[in-house]
Amino acid sequence: MKNFINSGDIINYQYLLNEINKHKNDKSDLSFIGKNKVIGLLFFNPSLRTRLSTQKAAMNLGFKSIVMNFRDDGWQLEFDENIIMSGNKAEHVKDAAKVISQYCDILGIRAFAELKHKEIDNSDKIINSFVKYATIPILNLESSIAHPLQALADAATINENINTNNPKIVLSWAPHPKPLPHAVANSFINMCKINNYDLTITNPKGYDLSKKITEGIQIINDQELAFKNADLIYAKNWSSYDQYGKVLLNDDSWIINENKMKLTNNAFFMHCLPIRRNVVVTDSVLDSNRSLVIQQANNRTYATQTILKELISNEK
Ligand code: CP
Repeated sequence: MKNFINSGDIINYQYLLNEINKHKNDKSDLSFIGKNKVIGLLFFNPSLRTRLSTQKAAMNLGFKSIVMNFRDDGWQLEFDENIIMSGNKAEHVKDAAKVISQYCDILGIRAFAELKHKEIDNSDKIINSFVKYATIPILNLESSIAHPLQALADAATINENINTNNPKIVLSWAPHPKPLPHAVANSFINMCKINNYDLTITNPKGYDLSKKITEGIQIINDQELAFKNADLIYAKNWSSYDQYGKVLLNDDSWIINENKMKLTNNAFFMHCLPIRRNVVVTDSVLDSNRSLVIQQANNRTYATQTILKELISNEK
């Protein structure tokens, strides 16, 4: 694997899930893998899980890590080509990427969608510019349109908990006061497609995700109907894709609560976190013994370890 930008970069998903299981359960010293190697992490947006689990994964493999809050501490970057840089942007990504490539052996980047211009977000400008100009592997720590490390940890969590053949998985839109990006939902759907999971999406009218992503997946606008006999409810908010970046629904009619979970086949509950309690989901569901959110967050470390190992092995 040269870079890890999308779930499609994984050649053998099942192999990686087995590797995650090994990394989680085998506590032998793996520090030889990243010995004398440096991972750089550039954050254009906040993070708890991604930042800490990536550093922990790097430590477990013997890497040293350098972390930079780029939006606050870096020069404002120019991404357009052949431009006269007489405005506010002090450094071109072409130069920044080449410079960082001398300091690091792998570079992780978090750069969310700005939710202002669909075409710009869909081009995944920041991460793809680093892919273009860096000379080291690039790791997606959540870009405008994809969060494949989260999806990989989610797949590992599903593997650990659901043994039934062909479980019914429901990705449910849930309320949120702020407009949120589509990256987590996109990558969860792609991961389910790759693994041939029985996925249903439920969202209010006006909240359908990109047709390119949802192609071939059933979308139901009646949340309670979708929940019937589900084995897993994966909750996530996203802003409207059609009315790009807009919040169209401000009430709590789509909150995930105990009554809705009773319609399911005693389903597990998953969410990538962070989560707004009693807005997205009630405390009673989130704190129940069917909630897997803390395990999901734990699996981020081992999912990232497998990817770092793949990326650095490719370098040798
Ligand atoms: N799930 C996730 O990516 O969490 P953070 O935004 O805290 O990194």
